[in-house]
Amino acid sequence: SLIPVILAGGKGERFWPLSRKHRPKQFLCLDGSGNSLLQETANRLLTMADGWEGLWVVTSAQLAEGVRSQLPQLPPENLLVEPEGRDTAPAVAWATLEISRRYGEDAVIGFFPADHWIGDQVAFQKTLNAATQLATYLAAIVTLGITPSYASTGYGYIQQGEQVGTFGELPVYHVDRFTEKPDRQTAETFLATKSRTGECPYTWNSGMFVFQAGVVLEELEKYAPEIIQLLKAKGLAAYGELAKKSIDYALMEKTELTYVMPASFGWDDLGDWNAIERLMKGDAKNVELAQHIGLDTEGAILYATDEDEVIVTIGLEDVVVVRDRNVTLIVKKDRTQDIKQVIKLLQEHP
Ligand code: GDD
Ligand code: MG
Repeated sequence: SLIPVILAGGKGERFWPLSRKHRPKQFLCLDGSGNSLLQETANRLLTMADGWEGLWVVTSAQLAEGVRSQLPQLPPENLLVEPEGRDTAPAVAWATLEISRRYGEDAVIGFFPADHWIGDQVAFQKTLNAATQLATYLAAIVTLGITPSYASTGYGYIQQGEQVGTFGELPVYHVDRFTEKPDRQTAETFLATKSRTGECPYTWNSGMFVFQAGVVLEELEKYAPEIIQLLKAKGLAAYGELAKKSIDYALMEKTELTYVMPASFGWDDLGDWNAIERLMKGDAKNVELAQHIGLDTEGAILYATDEDEVIVTIGLEDVVVVRDRNVTLIVKKDRTQDIKQVIKLLQEHP
């Protein structure tokens, strides 16, 4: 069976001003379900986990209280609290060490980001079941590949090699190369590539991966010894000294033990405000998560935290308007990636 671990220590800055220090993106309800992204992620994994006892969460000290209140059923010992966020390589390394101490190195662990939308729950379960068996069978790291729809620079790209077989009716390929967040030109080259069969051999990395604890611990010894050795020697006291690195750069770009199964379920990375539009727009002119009166307004995304607030727009196109307490953000839709820069400015001039 699979031991699912939710990675819930990120900041999600591009959803500012809704996401703030103690209320990052994964704590927000963004899909209209009434649940936060974290709660939705946990609910999705409960069947695989065999209930709350089998589910784990790794987060930073700053966010631990928030996780506890959002997931009150999670057993306290299944919440791994990092003294501070050092990106995902330390989080994965430490969680894998802790879980292998409890369940042994043969345990199959799956890491799951807390910022995703998954369309088809049944197909998701089926893929994960196959990935779990495959991880043991091949002593490998299994990734789930998403068919790319544009030359995004915000994802990892997986280059599929030989097909090694089918597993649970799903094809499985060796990964020839993993490239984390390429520049625009490289991403375009990837998408234009055709294999012998005429298909594009590249998929986006979904950010979920499944492996046997012992396999990843060994690969970390090889490719990220500075992280894993410090953690083994000093435990959590090592955190301040650990390199701030994501697992994609630290391990996935380097290991040769990776396989990929194309994901057969709907998937979206809720990376910024535009993702909300993909999820919620339908045929409406605007995405209205606020009381809105619009005159000649189209393609707007409107959000107010306070239900009493009314947003009025005239003659606007393709903008995002967000009202949260003492802050109003107005940004053109194609500039939402730059919210990160504004946060830096705000920190410099509070
Ligand atoms: N515990 C912990 N500690 N969790 C963290 C930390 C940390 O320091 N930093 C980030 N996380 C969590 C985030 O909350 C999120 O759920 C997950 O780890 C992934 O981190 P992101 O920062 O959202 O990564 P990304 O979106 O830039 O890139 C990753 O996901 C893409 C798909 O969405 C990569 O794996 C890409 O290759 C992938 O395409
Ligand atoms: Mg992300």
